[in-house]
Amino acid sequence: MNTAILEQARLLFRDYYQCDPIHVAYAPGRVEILGNHTDYNEGFVLSSAIAQGTWFLAASAPDTQCRVVAGDVREQVVFPAASPRPDPQAPWADYVKGVWAGLTDAESPSRGFLGLFLGNVPLGAGLSSSAALEISAGLALAALCQRDIPPLDLARIGQAAEHRFAGVQCGLLDQITSIFGQPDRLVKTDFRSLAVETIPAGDALRFLVVNTGVKHRLVDSEYNRRREECRRAATHFATVLPERNITALRDVSSSDWERYRAGLDDTAARRALHVIGENERVLAGANCLRDADIAAFGQLMFASHESSRYNFENSCPELDDVVAIARDTDGVLGARLSGGGFGGGSVLLVEPESLDAVAQHVAAVYNRGHHHPCITLPVRPAAGARLLGMQQKL
Ligand code: GLA
Repeated sequence: MNTAILEQARLLFRDYYQCDPIHVAYAPGRVEILGNHTDYNEGFVLSSAIAQGTWFLAASAPDTQCRVVAGDVREQVVFPAASPRPDPQAPWADYVKGVWAGLTDAESPSRGFLGLFLGNVPLGAGLSSSAALEISAGLALAALCQRDIPPLDLARIGQAAEHRFAGVQCGLLDQITSIFGQPDRLVKTDFRSLAVETIPAGDALRFLVVNTGVKHRLVDSEYNRRREECRRAATHFATVLPERNITALRDVSSSDWERYRAGLDDTAARRALHVIGENERVLAGANCLRDADIAAFGQLMFASHESSRYNFENSCPELDDVVAIARDTDGVLGARLSGGGFGGGSVLLVEPESLDAVAQHVAAVYNRGHHHPCITLPVRPAAGARLLGMQQKL
């Protein structure tokens, strides 16, 4: 827990609102370890909460306005409690507005809130700073409204904020991981049943995120398009295999794909192959963890990246370079892009004793060939979101 950030947030809160917060919540970012674009296909993902997160501080407003401050850029947005609307001028506030809308949907709130958030999740690195904001805001604002929201409902409220306010048709991976993360354990989620289990990550598992800082244009529309292509593929398999009751790519195996892909356009076929392969890799990966076969787990990560690159086409030259450099670096066991793709970061599985050397080497080689330097961040699975007890006043 980074108390310096929380203290800074408390001071800022007092500067802006001349009072102390009533509720403080924390939610971490996440890293996707294996299972790419499988969540909205009702498949499986292995992921981890990270030690970086967002603190959201909240108090009741004296009136019907909601005020929220982004502590890092010191910007404030004010909106009516009863009618939050997205605003392209301040897209960061849309996540908070969306969460507020989800919490207050059924009623017309008579009071607004005073809110402020501050955190240390690197932005644009594919580490889901947006989910950290949604979940920390959701926990603090639910407490303020005296609502007891079950964890999966909170995850859905965060997801709905993305769908309705940010325009990204994401799955539930980011929110679930932020909520259910545990120290030194990976989160394994079945996105059909929404059963979440955690698997010990052990001392042999160390990750390094390499953030390229690149964000290619049209990320959101490409994401939404992939989702549509997957849906098209699932419809095809449902049509050619009517007796199987296929409702999502989760229901299709790689041997089904081989036998029944005829009639599916090439793009949708490759998208489907990626998702089907990823599901199979996650299940195999979970077994590798249980057997402590870290080398085999790393190979699954490399295979995942290749599939992103060729089948799902959600990689980019910068991410490919990181993975290629990682492959040639001693101490690296696996590497793949992590998260939505089209920029952001790659995650490397690294032998613990080589972490520093790998970080330096990968960054040095990458930076030689790129205008924009990458940033490396060692990642160890960390605890999930929580409402913090009342802190002593500063
Ligand atoms: C983004 C989305 C998630 C998930 C990943 C890809 O992080 O928000 O729901 O689809 O991409 O696995």
